[in-house]
Amino acid sequence: MTTTFHRLLLVVSWLFIGQTAFAQKPAAIYPGELWPDSEGNHIQAHGGGILKIKKTYYWYGEERRKGLDPDFRYVSCYASDDLVHWKFKGDALKLSEPDSAGKTWVLERPKVFYNGKTKKFVMYFHLDGPGPEGGRSSYKLARVGTAISDKPEGPFTYVRSFRPLGLESRDIGQFVDDDGSAYLVFESRPSKGFYIASLSADYLNVEKEVSFIRSPLEGGAIVHYEGLYYAIGSALTGWRANPNKYATATSLAGPWSEFTDIAPPEANTYGSQSTMMVKVTGTKTTTVIFLADIWKPATQWDSRYLWMPLEIGGGKLRLPAPRPWTLNIKTGEAAIIP
Ligand code: DGJ
Repeated sequence: MTTTFHRLLLVVSWLFIGQTAFAQKPAAIYPGELWPDSEGNHIQAHGGGILKIKKTYYWYGEERRKGLDPDFRYVSCYASDDLVHWKFKGDALKLSEPDSAGKTWVLERPKVFYNGKTKKFVMYFHLDGPGPEGGRSSYKLARVGTAISDKPEGPFTYVRSFRPLGLESRDIGQFVDDDGSAYLVFESRPSKGFYIASLSADYLNVEKEVSFIRSPLEGGAIVHYEGLYYAIGSALTGWRANPNKYATATSLAGPWSEFTDIAPPEANTYGSQSTMMVKVTGTKTTTVIFLADIWKPATQWDSRYLWMPLEIGGGKLRLPAPRPWTLNIKTGEAAIIP
């Protein structure tokens, strides 16, 4: 009896110690680890993008949790006021096969813009599939899809799909400049490069080519920092990581410099692929965060995130080796946990 009681006590104490240790893990960003939302579920916002409305950050991405209805594709929405703690706001978009895209159609890399004039939230995503003729490739259509909502968390209503500027478009990225101008970044295989294109006044169309960067790169991410534009891209290696590279320009229209590695090339971007750069300007400093996905193609729901503050300035950009770090959203300061 006593032995059983003691054993039970031991188990309970172990559980307690374990829980306390877990609870005491400092509030930080842990690149590559599971990232629990406020309900303890791993965040499902892959190939994602961030939109800031007043003091709230919204994180949209491919939702790939287990048990989703295979007849639909889902875009998730999470909200946070510090970029560290995230609350799941639900499925911003739940879409069944649009425009005869084909049974194996894909929805990737959703990005949401807020249009202050129309007061609408406009979502862009890479829409692809074999198309009406079918076939084995799910990447034949090469279009963007758009969806619209009155609220950041949705529900978004599908609008249409098209090829931006009439061009094949696969990975997309989003860039909003300091003056509020909104751009879609898209990779176009036949042109062997990627485009930066401005949106129409209502954001529902891609209107004008601003820059074409002749470099076969996807996962395009752009930031405007201390008077320079920095563009990051990833080589066309499917889900496999590769050394992501960056170029700079004094004007968004270019000319752009040559592309250089953002990290030691043998590190393969520490197993990740770029999706966006986010600039956090606080009372003391500005931090630019590199947002990337660590894809797990066979177990997509378990794909991880690599978010790290970049060393950036004077035309140089470097992604440091991933380590846990904290962000002070008020001051803008990032600190690596020693
Ligand atoms: C690389 C892209 O960046 C991803 O979004 C996805 O399309 C994979 N290719 C598919 O192989």
